[in-house]
Amino acid sequence: MFLNLIKKRRSVRSYLSKPVERKKIELCLEAARLAPSACNSQPWSFIVVTDENLKNQIAQKTYSKLIPMNKFTENAPVLVIIVKEASTLLATFAGIWKRRHYSLIDIGIAAEHFCLQAAELDLGTCMLGWFNERKIKNILKIPRHKRLALIITVGYPESEEIPPKKRKLIDDIRRYV
Ligand SMILES: Cc1cc2nc3c(=O)[nH]c(=O)nc-3n(C[C@H](O)[C@H](O)[C@H](O)COP(=O)(O)O)c2cc1C
Repeated sequence: MFLNLIKKRRSVRSYLSKPVERKKIELCLEAARLAPSACNSQPWSFIVVTDENLKNQIAQKTYSKLIPMNKFTENAPVLVIIVKEASTLLATFAGIWKRRHYSLIDIGIAAEHFCLQAAELDLGTCMLGWFNERKIKNILKIPRHKRLALIITVGYPESEEIPPKKRKLIDDIRRYV
């Protein structure tokens, strides 16, 4: 049942040092590539960082002394950076007309496709929205005008335990009319 996969996916913040097979990363990227997007704009590209030195340099730009919550990225064997690419003209006009940030919605869906496929392959992931974008762009020589939307850590989880999900109650968020 698909819901079981959704329940299996959780944010993993402790990883084994075991490397992640490229074939598995490719499957996750394929899942992301097939995600829907407004006007089929596909406003994304993915940078897979596996080189340990580069990976550590980037990981160090996701936390600071003051806000150390993302220090765990240092033990993730792979980082996937989702770059927000230009939308198609149609999606851009639709977004302006309707005042909606379609590309961020699109990227969120693609990211979750990636993470669900990873979970199915027994990989752990954690999406990161907190990082020093400017410094990471410098490291990767990404032009200043581009935005980095999300980073996903990937690796084999240290523990197989799936903690209970802390979520709002369905009665508090659902309304049939
Ligand atoms: C857009 C986005 C940004 C996030 N940023 C971070 C982050 O910077 N650091 C982190 O440890 N977790 C981050 N998370 C993970 C959330 O904390 C996590 O999904 C949430 O607490 C629910 O837990 P679960 O993923 O284990 O079900 C982010 C999740 C999303 C969707």
